[in-house]
Amino acid sequence: MTRSVEVGMIWAEARGGVIGSGGTMPWHVPEDMAHFRSRTRNCPVVMGRKTWDSLPQRFRPLPGRTNIVITSDAATSRELEDAGAVPASSLPEAVEMAQSRVGSAEKVWIMGGGAVYAEAVNSEIATIASVTRLDFESEGDTFAPVLDSERWKLVHAEPDQGWSTSTSGIGYRIETYRRR
Ligand SMILES: NC(=O)c1ccc[n+]([C@@H]2O[C@H](COP(=O)([O-])OP(=O)(O)OC[C@H]3O[C@@H](n4cnc5c(N)ncnc54)[C@H](OP(=O)(O)O)[C@@H]3O)[C@@H](O)[C@H]2O)c1
Repeated sequence: MTRSVEVGMIWAEARGGVIGSGGTMPWHVPEDMAHFRSRTRNCPVVMGRKTWDSLPQRFRPLPGRTNIVITSDAATSRELEDAGAVPASSLPEAVEMAQSRVGSAEKVWIMGGGAVYAEAVNSEIATIASVTRLDFESEGDTFAPVLDSERWKLVHAEPDQGWSTSTSGIGYRIETYRRR
């Protein structure tokens, strides 16, 4: 029997909700990368095809995690399979595939990008969000979804107040939200 686990979203956003620019993330905050690795370790991850494309080839599929990639294109699906990912044709299908491959993991993580986070919030597929806020102004063309306070509650922030300082010099705070 398939065990069903909680579905989370994980992202980092600069001021104004910027999460991406020109198909990539316009910052390098090693502490956020470490947080991402630790949160998602051993868990299936779900992403849109453009986020998959944004990963450097040598890092994909992300190791130790089933990488499920959403695309509407059949030829891309075959390429993804050859590259070691699991293609899916919609977010619900991707999450169902992730749930069936969950093993001993405690969560399935949706890891972007903008289009997929927006659908995950609107469809109420996700019940938890791990948001790294960056105290940093960035140009951008892709944005985080808005976590409406009527539906989402901040349950944890590290640090509680203010910012930690990354070795990159950028201030950051890691927040966890739960859907009410
Ligand atoms: N800051 C962060 O934490 C973070 C995290 C992840 C990504 N990002 C950034 O976000 C940007 C990418 O986000 P994005 O919104 O442009 O793209 P995306 O969500 O990564 O991928 C969009 C693509 O996924 C497929 N897709 C999405 N929803 C679908 C659906 N319902 N049915 C079928 N296919 C679907 C389509 O692929 P096809 O075109 O192949 O059909 C679509 O073009 C990049 O800049 C990346 O660096 C930032």
